[in-house]
Amino acid sequence: MRPAGGRGVPTAPRALLALLALLGPLLGALGAPAELRVRVRLPDGQVAEESLQADGERDSISLELRKPDGTLISFTADFKKYVKIFRALILGELEKGQSQFQALCFVTRLHHSEIIPSQAMAKLRQKNPRTVRQAEEVRGLEHLHMDAAVNFSLGALLSPHLRNVCAEAADAVYTRQQDVRFWLEQGVDSSLFRTLPKDTEPPLPRCGQGGDRAAPCVCHYSLSLAWYPCMLKYCYSRDRPAPYKCGIRSCQKGYSFDFSVPQQQLCLWAEDP
Ligand SMILES: *[C@@H]1O[C@H](CO)[C@@H](O)[C@H](O)[C@H]1NC(C)=O
Repeated sequence: MRPAGGRGVPTAPRALLALLALLGPLLGALGAPAELRVRVRLPDGQVAEESLQADGERDSISLELRKPDGTLISFTADFKKYVKIFRALILGELEKGQSQFQALCFVTRLHHSEIIPSQAMAKLRQKNPRTVRQAEEVRGLEHLHMDAAVNFSLGALLSPHLRNVCAEAADAVYTRQQDVRFWLEQGVDSSLFRTLPKDTEPPLPRCGQGGDRAAPCVCHYSLSLAWYPCMLKYCYSRDRPAPYKCGIRSCQKGYSFDFSVPQQQLCLWAEDP
């Protein structure tokens, strides 16, 4: 969080400053990135709490969702760098000898039309925070084949958000060669990326289908962004010369990631039926 009174405040007229000082306690988080907390209905019917933050200055949006099973999903859209980052913190089952949690990071190209601009997101307010929200539009499941890895220690060259978001997943930051090609055109250094071994012959088995636990396999992970503002709505009025922004359209979208792991232990959720 930024310190209270961000840029611009020192140059504000004295009278306005005095007024802000009076209103301060009422305005709450003045100067901090705008946050919206919503209750959302997950695709399986359960209710979860989601937090959406917009940072107009860094031109980014982040979304965090805690699933009832304890999994923490986060999504970051970095509009400046055309990067979106998905992170999953998955709780392990200690009684099965699994580690406390496993972290995964998937980094792909952000298209600016996928989610509303950060400035619009920062202005969103809700009337009733208790409402359980269900997205107006369900977007199709997207399958992503992750065939490259990002070197975490150089990750800031791709997006300054990567260092914080993927810290727990330093050894598991995946991306796609098609996204890499786009970022290279944007001037990102190629030393950040490493192509993962090509599909072998015969193809690697899917993790969790028996087989040697120490052998490589293809791991699969799916997540869903249960509710996010995907489009601005425009309204028309006789009193205005042009259509104006009057709300948002909400979407739900699922993503399914495939990636190879050197051993099945690194795909712990695949071991459950
Ligand atoms: C990541 O980059 C650093 C700095 O260039 C390098 O020392 C390290 O070996 C790289 N790691 C991998 C896994 O390639």
